[in-house]
Amino acid sequence: MVDIERSPSTARAPICTLGDEHRAAIEAHLLALGEQDRYLRFGYAAQDAHVRRYVEGLRFGRDEVFGIFNRRLELIAMAHLAYSLEAAHANVAEFGVSVSARARGRGYGQQLFGRAVMHARNHGVTMLLIHALSENAAMLKIARKAGATIARDGSESECHLELPPADFESHVTELLEEQVAQTNYRLKAHSRRFRRLLGRLFGRTPA
Ligand SMILES: CC(C)(COP(=O)(O)OP(=O)(O)OC[C@H]1O[C@@H](n2cnc3c(N)ncnc32)[C@H](O)[C@@H]1OP(=O)(O)O)[C@@H](O)C(=O)NCCC(=O)NCCS
Repeated sequence: MVDIERSPSTARAPICTLGDEHRAAIEAHLLALGEQDRYLRFGYAAQDAHVRRYVEGLRFGRDEVFGIFNRRLELIAMAHLAYSLEAAHANVAEFGVSVSARARGRGYGQQLFGRAVMHARNHGVTMLLIHALSENAAMLKIARKAGATIARDGSESECHLELPPADFESHVTELLEEQVAQTNYRLKAHSRRFRRLLGRLFGRTPA
């Protein structure tokens, strides 16, 4: 397997673990995806109501959701690592991802994949599944580069990636990356509050 956790093609973005407090940001990010992107992400033509139901159904604390924020604290990319509910597949998780159209091609999709792989390994997952439409060249490339086997069934493809067991490095790296991302998030939040204050004081619209 290529070291997907450590092989970004561009600068690394801070990736935060998301929680209940981010539900509104997740909904805004997904609702902003165009028709075709929703089709690629969910595998069907998801309407706004479907997207809202999906967001309401996110099980923080059980599944993991990761996100990348821009400096205005808008969620521009997110990934969902969903653990299997079947006892027989307790070591299996499914990966789904989306990157805002204007933030594509910067390596965010791949970095979120690497982060999810690391987290999954650290939590005993041995097999990662990705359902992708066969036309989804970007997603299939990410999976293929990581060493996944891809079974194509007409318009749909199922990718299976076997994960190596966690080790000291994967645990420490995840811990450090989360700390860096949380610090980065807090700094952006302070900066946003400051810009808003300036806006109120001087009547300027915050950038
Ligand atoms: C799939 C998706 C997440 C990729 O995000 P991204 O941040 O643009 O991808 P990256 O920049 O990390 O690129 C990953 C690889 O795919 C390649 N790639 C990106 N877009 C591509 C495209 N349209 N066609 C072919 N390859 C593409 C990149 O060149 C890169 O390969 P490299 O490392 O060899 O250069 C994004 O296109 C998206 O959100 N699509 C809609 C939702 C979706 O399809 N989700 C996946 C199903 S769960």
